[in-house]
Amino acid sequence: MKELLEQLVRECAPYTQQGQLANYIPELSKADPRAIGVHIITADGQHSGAGRDQERFTIQSIVKPILLLLALMDNGMEFVRGRVGVEATGKPFDAINSSDQRLDSEHLNPMVNMGAIAMCTLIHGDTYREKFERLLALTRKLAGDESIGVDEAVYLSEQSHGSKNRALAYMLKSHGMLHDNVEDVLDCYFRACSISVTCENLANIGYTLAHQGQIPGSGEQVFPAHFARYVNAILTTCGMYDGSGEFAIRVGVPAKSGVGGGIMAVVPSRMGIGIFAPALDAKGNSVAGTCMLEKLSSHLNLSIF
Ligand code: DON
Repeated sequence: MKELLEQLVRECAPYTQQGQLANYIPELSKADPRAIGVHIITADGQHSGAGRDQERFTIQSIVKPILLLLALMDNGMEFVRGRVGVEATGKPFDAINSSDQRLDSEHLNPMVNMGAIAMCTLIHGDTYREKFERLLALTRKLAGDESIGVDEAVYLSEQSHGSKNRALAYMLKSHGMLHDNVEDVLDCYFRACSISVTCENLANIGYTLAHQGQIPGSGEQVFPAHFARYVNAILTTCGMYDGSGEFAIRVGVPAKSGVGGGIMAVVPSRMGIGIFAPALDAKGNSVAGTCMLEKLSSHLNLSIF
């Protein structure tokens, strides 16, 4: 497996030149655009890695499935489902332009920013700081790494360049789907996106989603199997944003990308995969990362379709 991963890194490294670093959060543009790494944990618990798989980068949107898991663990499926929808477009089949339609929970999706900001309100805790600490604790547990923390520079950069997310949060508030102080909710969201992880951490999280909630090694059941099914289904339809359809064809497994260059992929009952390559395509997905996953999927016949 290690040789295969090293070959993937070699073959896909040139694709880092086809992407651009995220720059709408200025701190992210300081990353090395040529960085590339991959880490895999197979069903028997074996780890293999290649490239810069131990380097830390911010989790960004890959925190969304963890937020969703914690919201499910705290409230159950029916409650969460009633507040944040699960549809990829949230629009009717004959929609032309729905921008003037009333916004309601059915139009939200936990894998895009507005839905994720709404999910921060569902996490249990007396304060938003406490909600965030519970999210961080779950991330550490799923990643198998108690040393995980927040990248303060990225957090401050998100805070000071967060106008679009503020607009999304105020939209939620104006439509009666957010009742708390907007800045408190956003502080939790910005901190969540700024959690710093490695490819190995992401592979651990992916493994647990691939194995119905059991963490590698101890086999401890962290969340019920039906939550894994719920999250994996949404990752399949929406995890790569408006690139999810193409990703389903090219790779064919549930996955989540982040603008820090990470991708977490879940191969049901088989493996968890963590990827890092921060040069992104126009949709915010890692170019070389998708290249590695596509080649891996075809080598090992991973597609679920
Ligand atoms: O809120 C944002 O825009 C970022 N903190 C996260 C977006 C993101 O990772 C999109 N992923 N490809």
